[in-house]
Amino acid sequence: MRLSTLISALFQVLALSQHATASPVQLSYLLPRQDIQTPINASLPNVTIFATGGTIASQGTTNTQTIGYSVGLGVQQLITAVPDLLNVSNIKGYQISNVDSGSINQTILLNLTRHINEEIAKDSVQGIVVTHGTDTLEETAFFLDLTVNATKPVVIVGAMRPATALSADGPLNILQAVILATSKNALNRGVMVSLNDRISSAFYATKNHANALDTFYAAEQGQLGFYINQVPFFYYGAATAVGKTNFNVAGATGLPQVDILYEHQEASPALVNASIASGARGIVFAGVGAGGIPPLVSLAAYQNYNATGFPFVASRRPADGFAPSDDESSWRIGSGFLNPQKARILLQLSILAGHDTAKIRDVFAATYPSPAA
Ligand SMILES: *[C@@H]1O[C@H](CO)[C@@H](O)[C@H](O)[C@H]1NC(C)=O
Ligand SMILES: *[C@@H]1O[C@H](CO)[C@@H](O)[C@H](O)[C@H]1NC(C)=O
Ligand SMILES: *[C@@H]1O[C@H](CO)[C@@H](O)[C@H](O)[C@H]1NC(C)=O
Ligand SMILES: *[C@@H]1O[C@H](CO)[C@@H](O)[C@H](O)[C@H]1NC(C)=O
Ligand SMILES: *[C@@H]1O[C@H](CO)[C@@H](O)[C@H](O)[C@H]1NC(C)=O
Ligand SMILES: *[C@@H]1O[C@H](CO)[C@@H](O)[C@H](O)[C@H]1NC(C)=O
Ligand SMILES: *[C@@H]1O[C@H](CO)[C@@H](O)[C@H](O)[C@H]1NC(C)=O
Ligand SMILES: *[C@@H]1O[C@H](CO)[C@@H](O)[C@H](O)[C@H]1NC(C)=O
Repeated sequence: MRLSTLISALFQVLALSQHATASPVQLSYLLPRQDIQTPINASLPNVTIFATGGTIASQGTTNTQTIGYSVGLGVQQLITAVPDLLNVSNIKGYQISNVDSGSINQTILLNLTRHINEEIAKDSVQGIVVTHGTDTLEETAFFLDLTVNATKPVVIVGAMRPATALSADGPLNILQAVILATSKNALNRGVMVSLNDRISSAFYATKNHANALDTFYAAEQGQLGFYINQVPFFYYGAATAVGKTNFNVAGATGLPQVDILYEHQEASPALVNASIASGARGIVFAGVGAGGIPPLVSLAAYQNYNATGFPFVASRRPADGFAPSDDESSWRIGSGFLNPQKARILLQLSILAGHDTAKIRDVFAATYPSPAA
């Protein structure tokens, strides 16, 4: 049984390398769900992998192609391409979607978190791994951090190079993610992002470089740990981000529309009205400096706030830093240390939870308690 699995895994690896010279496989946007269960070894832990697509599941036309490749590998291929996995865990795989991460949407997010919550509640499951495209990985990671209610490890992993590339990073990243998901030291740390030997917290980790392998980290908040010879080492004891709110989205059928507007010299106030007119229930601004909003845009936000009561959140355009709230009479809720894309998700979940604007102000403020508190 085990030998035949290994042989079939080897064929998968060979098939992968042959794709290096074949034309890319054209696949439908959403593949049918494809499940896999590796042979059960009673002395190994159990990890469930949810595959969503992305570069880690992509193939180029040559082994030097590292942009413009296509998504297509199923969860079965991802797992069988790394036979070493069979020595660290029994693995069950589910295909949730098979898209690049720019196409991940609320349907997929809600589906994913529901499946993870169901799976992680089982005594026979020790940890969860999600494979994902890197472009919006930090958004899904943050969404899961706020909507998965568990002490067991949930690890989100991707790759910067397609499976067909020389020095593809996906296989080792998957192996490390699975090892992390089985690690007792990984309990009670919230959702973790694992790529390129580094482990970071989903709450603050962000994609810092569009192309380089070493792209996921939180420059200010730091890393949680590092792999030495594939063993995860943590720098600190278990903790989660200050002020993290848990949301129960089990019954949700969708997420409210929240748009992000990027601020700059002569930013157009018309975009605020256009966004609200198109159905946004809230707006996050990628403000200049510490959440600064140019005067005409600020006026439009204030007018729309007065007209609708919707929440308007100011985050920042710079890579790092703090965007404060104004006093409660103002429209402006500061995102604190959250970047615009993470602030958007916290705002969506807060609106979904039925919080009014005053409560939403508190939800954001909880992430940066005043020193006097
Ligand atoms: C099961 O896993 C254990 C621990 O890694 C290993 O020693 C053993 O050889 C495995 N058994 C089989 C049948 O693969
Ligand atoms: C799994 O572990 C066994 C025993 O340590 C070893 O012989 C085998 O090569 C390993 N297989 C893989 C795929 O790492
Ligand atoms: C999200 O994407 C999936 C897969 O392409 C699709 O089935 C679904 O309708 C999309 N949902 C929304 C809200 O666009
Ligand atoms: C959501 O989950 C169900 C059940 O697993 C699956 O059949 C469906 O395709 C999923 N939809 C999306 C958009 O992921
Ligand atoms: C792993 O899963 C198998 C099959 O469901 C189960 O028999 C076993 O007890 C599980 N192992 C652990 C450590 O939970
Ligand atoms: C999370 O789980 C804990 C303990 O099981 C429970 O008390 C709490 O209500 C849950 N929170 C949410 C948001 O579901
Ligand atoms: C919004 O309403 C407040 C309170 O009524 C008022 O003081 C303020 O001038 C209004 N802002 C705008 C831009 O109309
Ligand atoms: C934008 O919307 C606000 C609130 O409804 C309104 O007061 C304002 O006149 C609108 N601005 C424009 C240019 O339409």
